[in-house]
Amino acid sequence: MIKLKDVYYTYGTRYAVEGVSLEIKEGEVTAFVGPNGAGKTTIAKLISGIIKPTRGSVYVDGIDTKKSSHLEIIRKVGIIFQNPDYQLFERTVLEEVMFALKNMGYDRREAQDRAMKALDRFGLSKYANRPPLSLSGGEKKRLTFAIVYAWDPKYIVFDEPTVGQDGLNLKNLRNLMDEMLKEGKGVIITSHDMEFLWPLNPSTFVVKEGKVVWMGKMKELFKEANYSDANLIEPQLSVISKKLSLKEPALSVEDAAEVIKGVSNI
Ligand SMILES: Nc1ncnc2c1ncn2[C@@H]1O[C@H](COP(=O)(O)OP(=O)(O)OP(=O)(O)O)[C@@H](O)[C@H]1O
Ligand SMILES: [Mg+2]
Repeated sequence: MIKLKDVYYTYGTRYAVEGVSLEIKEGEVTAFVGPNGAGKTTIAKLISGIIKPTRGSVYVDGIDTKKSSHLEIIRKVGIIFQNPDYQLFERTVLEEVMFALKNMGYDRREAQDRAMKALDRFGLSKYANRPPLSLSGGEKKRLTFAIVYAWDPKYIVFDEPTVGQDGLNLKNLRNLMDEMLKEGKGVIITSHDMEFLWPLNPSTFVVKEGKVVWMGKMKELFKEANYSDANLIEPQLSVISKKLSLKEPALSVEDAAEVIKGVSNI
């Protein structure tokens, strides 16, 4: 479990995160949503130990991130950045994936083995010898998935993972998340993409001006008025569920179709 206890963070002037307390469980999907500049990425970085709280504490499986090395935390919590360019600096795609593995103590041979498997998993083996920055936007993002996947952390924080991904790669991303959940791992997502999040029905934190203003299961979020000032786009299935006056919103097109078929039979 990851715990934030009354966490504050400032980049220098005002607080980007202000008095946030929350818990994130493994084996679940957790989502952070809210307006641009709300503090979602800052929370993501706090969770993965890249930055330490100005006040308050972050615990990863009981380890206080302030009292541990970045390496100790990142082994448990991998983060995939919003902007892949910040994560890529090696000469080749293969070396890029191997870099973190070597830092974590894998010898060169084992690092190469794990790296090749990860590249294969994300359809990037054919680019192994290319400079990372020569990949397309979506490929770069996929490379950052492969980098983190390679060291198999217990939690992965996906910061805006769906940006620039085509249909097939979105499906692959969903499969990767399903796989992680089956293994009892924690999937943490920040996103503006409500259509992607909705079927996952994640434990959701709505962040606004550095504070958590709502928490609960996503399917509850749009039943209430709380989302209206958080700049969220209501998912289509939530809208249609309301129009059909369903007691519970449909989480999949299949569920909605069942209801519609039922209604038309009456
Ligand atoms: N390196 C930085 N230096 C100074 N201020 C920063 C820095 N990074 C973020 N901020 C500020 O902190 C606040 C929170 O930013 P953050 O990136 O966490 O927002 P976000 O919710 O992830 O937004 P988005 O939806 O646009 O990704 C914003 O006001 C932002 O301008
Ligand atoms: Mg962000």
